[in-house]
Amino acid sequence: MERCPFENELILVSNRGPISYTRGEDGELKTVRGGGGLVTALLGVAASCEITWIASAMTPEDAEISIRVGGGSTKVTHDEHRLGLRFVVSDPEVYNKFYNIIANPLIWFIQHYLWDLSVVPDIRHNEFEAWENGYQVVNREFADVVCDELDARGNERPVVMLHDYHLYTCPSLVRERHPEAFLHQFVHIPWPQSDSWRVLPRHIRQAIVRGLLANDIVAFHTQRYVRNFLVSCEELIGAEVEVDFARSVVIVAGREVWVRAYPISIDCADFERLAESESVLEEERYIEALRREYLVLRVDRMDLSKNIVRGFKAFDMFLDDHPEFKQRITFLALLQPSRGDVKEYNTYRQQIMREVEVINTKHGTTNWMPIDVRMQDNFMRSVAAYKQFDVLMVNAIYDGMNLIAKEAGLINRHDGVLILSENTGAHEELGEYCLSVNPFDLESQSEAIYQALIMEKDEKSRRAGMIRDTVKHNDIQKWIETQFVDIKAKMTEKAEAT
Ligand code: G6P
Repeated sequence: MERCPFENELILVSNRGPISYTRGEDGELKTVRGGGGLVTALLGVAASCEITWIASAMTPEDAEISIRVGGGSTKVTHDEHRLGLRFVVSDPEVYNKFYNIIANPLIWFIQHYLWDLSVVPDIRHNEFEAWENGYQVVNREFADVVCDELDARGNERPVVMLHDYHLYTCPSLVRERHPEAFLHQFVHIPWPQSDSWRVLPRHIRQAIVRGLLANDIVAFHTQRYVRNFLVSCEELIGAEVEVDFARSVVIVAGREVWVRAYPISIDCADFERLAESESVLEEERYIEALRREYLVLRVDRMDLSKNIVRGFKAFDMFLDDHPEFKQRITFLALLQPSRGDVKEYNTYRQQIMREVEVINTKHGTTNWMPIDVRMQDNFMRSVAAYKQFDVLMVNAIYDGMNLIAKEAGLINRHDGVLILSENTGAHEELGEYCLSVNPFDLESQSEAIYQALIMEKDEKSRRAGMIRDTVKHNDIQKWIETQFVDIKAKMTEKAEAT
C-alpha cells in the first residue's frame, strides 16, 4: 500500500481501540484485539501511516496501563504495525451512561430506525442526565486528550480522524481550542432521514449536528446517507448553515465542511490468506461435519438492526411451502453476543431463542434440527462458514455497510447466493448481483431462499464472480486512499483560504 500522501501524522480516535489488555490465568497482562469491522478497517490505515490511536479504556487493565504511562501513549505492535495507543479512562458510571443509555440504545436506535415510537423511547431525567453527565463528559474527555496530542505536536499539524456515533460532540470541543486543527469524522452507521432526529430534544439533536459540522470532512458509506445528512443540516439547524447540495458542502461559521461518501471494504489479500490458514481449515472440517446438502448461513452481531427473528420466520415459511427440502437443509446462525448490558438486547436474545425453539419443534425431527444457532464469538468458525454457504442471509433492517456480505462473498467456494436487504450500505455496490429483499417482507425473503436454492449453476457462478470482482475492485486500500486524496485537497483549500 502507498504511504500517506501527506507528511502529517494521523491521530485516530474511536471508542473501541485496536487492542485491549486483560490478565491471563497466570496473572500476566495479555492483549486482545478489539472486535468488529471498524478496528480491522482502521488497522489498514495504521499500515500506511504513522498513527497514534486514542480509544476508551475498556478493561481495568487498560486503565492500569494508562496509569503506568502517566496517561500518555504506549507503543504497541499489531499485525506487525507499530502504533501509539492512548487510552481515555472514564469513570465506570459515566461510561455506562455514555455507552449503555445514550450511544446504545438511544442514538443507535434512531440511526437504525429501531424505536417503536408509539411506546418508546421515554426521554426523562435519566436520559437528560445521561446526556450531560455521560455522553458529553466522555466526549469532553476525548477532546482533552486530542487537544493534548495537538498541543504536543505544535506546528506539525497532524490530521485527526474521528470515528462513529460515540463521538459526535467531541469535534466542536476540539475546534474551540484548536481552530486550525484538521478534523475528519467517519460515521459508520446509517444517517437517517432528518425527522428521525426529532425523537431527541432540540438541544441534544442540535448539539449532534453542530458537533459533526466542526469537522472539515464528514464521511459516510453511501450517497444516501450523505443526502440525508445534508437535509438534516438544513432541517435541524437551518438558520446557522448554508447547504450546497450540488457541491455536497455545508457552510457554517465561515467554514466549508465537505460531506462525502466512501464505501468501506475489506483487505482482500489478507482475508484470502486468512481463509487458507490452519485454524480456519480446522473449523471448516467442523462445518462440513454439521452441514447437510444445503447450508443457509447468517453471521451477525446479535443486534436488533440485523433482523434475525424475521430471517427465521422467513425460513419457517420456506419450509412450509417447500417441504421437499426438509432434512436436506440447515440454517446455521453464528451470532456474536453484543451489548449485554442494554436491556433491549437481552430481550431480543430471548426472542431469538423462543422463535428458534418454535420453528425447530414444528419442523425438526429426532435427527434433524432445521435451525442451528451458536451464540459465541468465534471468528475463525465464521470465516470457515463463509467458505461453505449455499445461501447467505443478510436481511438487516438498516445497516451502515455490512461487511459480512463482502467478506463472505469474497471467499465462498460454493458459488453461494447472497440474499441482501435493500437497506444495507452494501446494497449500493452489490445490489445487482444478489437477491434483493425488503427486510420486512417475509414473503420475499422466503421466496429468495427458494430461488437461491434452485438457481441455475451458471447464473450462481456469474453472480458470485461479480460479487468477488466488485469487492476486489473496491477494497480497503481504495477506501483509505480516496479519503487521503480528499484530505489532501481539503488541506490545500484551507491553506489557500488563510
Ligand atoms: C458496529 C458498527 C460500528 C460501531 C460498532 C460498535 O460494528 O458498524 O460502526 O462502531 O458496532 O460496536 P461496539 O461493540 O463497540 O458497541
